[in-house]
Amino acid sequence: MKTIIKKKQAFSADDNLILLCDKKSNLSAFTLSKDELNYIQKEQKEDKEIITINQYNRLIFVVNPKADKNVNKHLEDVRLLGDKLQGILKDEDSVIIIDVKGNQTEVLAIAEGMALANYTFTTHKTDPKPNKLTTLYLCNKASENDTEELQNIVDAVYLTRDLINEPFSHMTAKNLADAAVISGRKNGVNTTVFNKKKIETLKMGGLLAVNKGSIDEPTFTIMEYKPKNATNQQPIILIGKGIVYDTGGLSLKPTANSMDLMKTDMGGSGVVIGAMQAIAANKLDKYVIALIPATDNRPSGNAYAPGDVITMHDGTTVEVLNTDAEGRLVLADALSFAKKYKPELVIDLATLTGAASAAIGHYGIVSMHDGSEKEHSELKKAGATTHERLAEMPFWSDYDELIKSEVADIKNLGGPSGGAITAGKFLAHFADYPWIHLDIAGPTFIKAKYGYRGKGATGMGVRLLYQFIKNRA
Ligand code: BES
Ligand code: MN
Ligand code: ZN
Repeated sequence: MKTIIKKKQAFSADDNLILLCDKKSNLSAFTLSKDELNYIQKEQKEDKEIITINQYNRLIFVVNPKADKNVNKHLEDVRLLGDKLQGILKDEDSVIIIDVKGNQTEVLAIAEGMALANYTFTTHKTDPKPNKLTTLYLCNKASENDTEELQNIVDAVYLTRDLINEPFSHMTAKNLADAAVISGRKNGVNTTVFNKKKIETLKMGGLLAVNKGSIDEPTFTIMEYKPKNATNQQPIILIGKGIVYDTGGLSLKPTANSMDLMKTDMGGSGVVIGAMQAIAANKLDKYVIALIPATDNRPSGNAYAPGDVITMHDGTTVEVLNTDAEGRLVLADALSFAKKYKPELVIDLATLTGAASAAIGHYGIVSMHDGSEKEHSELKKAGATTHERLAEMPFWSDYDELIKSEVADIKNLGGPSGGAITAGKFLAHFADYPWIHLDIAGPTFIKAKYGYRGKGATGMGVRLLYQFIKNRA
């Protein structure tokens, strides 16, 4: 269910209100009794950030965000206040957020936190009970544009979460490609889907090898957003790992429960589809292309096997030593396919390694690059503003030898340590343009609630990519 965010100037005596204030704010416009005003004053003295007044026919929240010198931390704290407010208000129909103190950024951040927290995944419930809260009204000076922009971003994050939460039974490679087509059609993104035959013609040996054990055909989806006023000639390319289910293949995942969440192994492509939607719906003036190689990875009589040597789209031969290191194989073909566009920058996103998740947990995104210092620092900045933060790994040439093979050009398995980096090194072999690799294995899906990111798929990466592309002059 969508959460609607829109502007509203008037309010009546039974509307729920969030009053964004500081200690100096004048609250006389809001039917508050003397006792209530005294109570508010007392609580404000104790620096309470959320003061609740229950007037029985409505709730009023006096919200006083704590100041913080760190602008990004402050913004995130305000989003988290939004998350708290959503928790209290989720059974109400609507609320009006009123900017009493005159701070549009904070109003938008409260709304962002509330809206993102308000997501539920109820598709497969016979009797779905999504939150009652459907509408956040903004009574502030922010323009229609800012409100619409936020709405489009929230919708895009919801889309990404929906795609990632959807189980394999309902999200095959074909289903994923269809989802890209539907989103593309709505937003003016030209979307093409290659079928198995076309993928064979293109000799995408990585994608085809992973797909060998599947009963479903692979897909390779291209989403192209090229606005007339684009300021870049050469596209920015976003590549998303689209493994719709990862059993590990013949190198079957060994430990108990290690397969339970492998429906989320298309997380990278989910994020990329959402980001494309946010970018196009908000009509950013950037030429952006998304590439999505998709298949499931499973064992069968015909499955690719450890020890196999395969030939990739660019002609590189790869010794497959573990069929569970499948993500890098499908991504590699997309990375070499990207060369034909002469991209100004390529960013790939993938739930690539357990090692990335082990390194930093679900609190951020593991990043690496091969000399794209400037682009990476811009992306890192966008990560700080959106709180979708990057943790950079070393990418020293010393790691290169870990993927050398005796029988082929390279192998798809590194040594026992540095697993996130050797996976990145494998990818780097196929990129000859500015490139950044984001391993989102940690933050893509979280079982417990993590602020406004909710339970389950978080959509982390969508707001990061959107903000990065928006910032790019
Ligand atoms: N999809 C997994 C990585 C993953 C693990 C994502 C946990 C989310 C949570 C990936 O395909 C994989 O299996 N990676 C292996 C690589 C290894 C065989 C070199 C891993 O990380 O164990
Ligand atoms: Mn795997
Ligand atoms: Zn995988």
